[in-house]
Amino acid sequence: MGRMNEPPRLPEGGFSAWNRDRLAVARRGADECGDVWQLEPGVYVAATAEPCEAVLRRSQDFPKAPAPLFPPLKRSSGAPTPEERARAHAARMRGLRAQAVAARIGEIAPRTAQFADQWPTDQDVEILPAVRHALAEIGVSYLYSEDAPTLLPFAAQLFLAREVLVRPSRWAWPLWIPTPARRFRTRQQVAFIDALRPIVRRRRSTGRLGDDMLGQMLRPSPRYGLLPEEAVLDTLPGITVATFETPSRAAGWILLHLARHPRAADRVAAEAALLPADPAATTSTHLDSLRYTQALVREVLRLYPPSWLLTRRATRQTELADYTIDAGSTVLVCPYTAHRDAREHAEPDEFQPERWLDDSGSPAKPGVFLSFGTGPHGCEGTALAMAMLTLLTAQTARRYHLSEPPGPEPGYQVTTFEGLATVGLRLRATVRG
Ligand code: HEM
Repeated sequence: MGRMNEPPRLPEGGFSAWNRDRLAVARRGADECGDVWQLEPGVYVAATAEPCEAVLRRSQDFPKAPAPLFPPLKRSSGAPTPEERARAHAARMRGLRAQAVAARIGEIAPRTAQFADQWPTDQDVEILPAVRHALAEIGVSYLYSEDAPTLLPFAAQLFLAREVLVRPSRWAWPLWIPTPARRFRTRQQVAFIDALRPIVRRRRSTGRLGDDMLGQMLRPSPRYGLLPEEAVLDTLPGITVATFETPSRAAGWILLHLARHPRAADRVAAEAALLPADPAATTSTHLDSLRYTQALVREVLRLYPPSWLLTRRATRQTELADYTIDAGSTVLVCPYTAHRDAREHAEPDEFQPERWLDDSGSPAKPGVFLSFGTGPHGCEGTALAMAMLTLLTAQTARRYHLSEPPGPEPGYQVTTFEGLATVGLRLRATVRG
């Protein structure tokens, strides 16, 4: 181990400044201190592409704490082992990988089209509840197809339970205290699992496993064999909420950008005009042809990554960007500032979807695009999220001009708590002439 070399501390950048305006302090940290800086003793921020990428990839040195939205319920066989978690991950990925999503574009497109059709025109509407509902329908159908109608109401309750749980509170109750929010969460989780169990049993006993993600999880894998029922049930509440929670945050930013950048919206509309008239006839080839729309989605995710801060812990003393990181310290990975580094992105604060169209703007370059994370804990739903958001964007722009409410007041508030999102976003849709 090299000599002790601590990351710089940001002047007037401790927790109290951070709690007042986290984005501003994050930017100041990156500007004034560079690659890695110190928020408080033992709390470091990886602020630029290279250290962000390194922390996410080096999962031995910087493991992700097991803090799932819906921790596995107590059960007779004990907590899931790492082996069981790996098996559940592999089973989920059979249903979520890009080819699996590509095969089901014809089911996703009609629902995003329906969302666009139902937008009340010529009035300012708070749009995120409708977006969330549409994406929940898509996500839950993607996971459970014909069993989705049974599970959708339970999924909505899971979302609520999660929202109550992450709401800022004055006290950080120790994790073992069953606060009302935690009891509500556990009740909703139990209710969801009780609704899901008979579906799993019916599918297994009839042998009709289904072609959806649940069906993929119920199939034996060549490597691991059959996943136990409890492992299937434990993993699904979190995945169910994940299919629509972060995607609806992203959709808020995307719709806002369509309103603010009418020329970009026109370009999306022109591309979308080439989609089949019957949305059910949409295929992955059509989706791939929406190149500008995909670039726009990616550009919005670059500027406003919903998961703008990811948490890791250093298990042992280690090095990061020539600094020494103490054992036991917290490392915050900040895609938000990494994405606004002029060395990686020309004119980093400008909204320029075109930057992703030429080959130099390849998101595959390390650290260049971290909105879905990377490394062993990278997002499992990237392909599904990109498909839903691209279709939603194309079909909305194809029908409407969007605009923000007139007047000096912004039609939304920015929240950075849990995710970067537009709260209360109000927009107006007018039918394109
Ligand atoms: C625009 C939408 C989305 C964004 C921006 C997003 C972002 C992310 C990010 C940044 C991570 C890594 C977290 C970390 O490293 O600590 C992650 C993990 C994850 N995402 Fe997504 N996500 C999105 C949509 C989805 C969807 C649709 C699913 C549906 C299945 C999903 C499932 C997951 C899961 C299961 C993980 C945990 C992976 C692990 O810890 O090993 N996400 N996501």
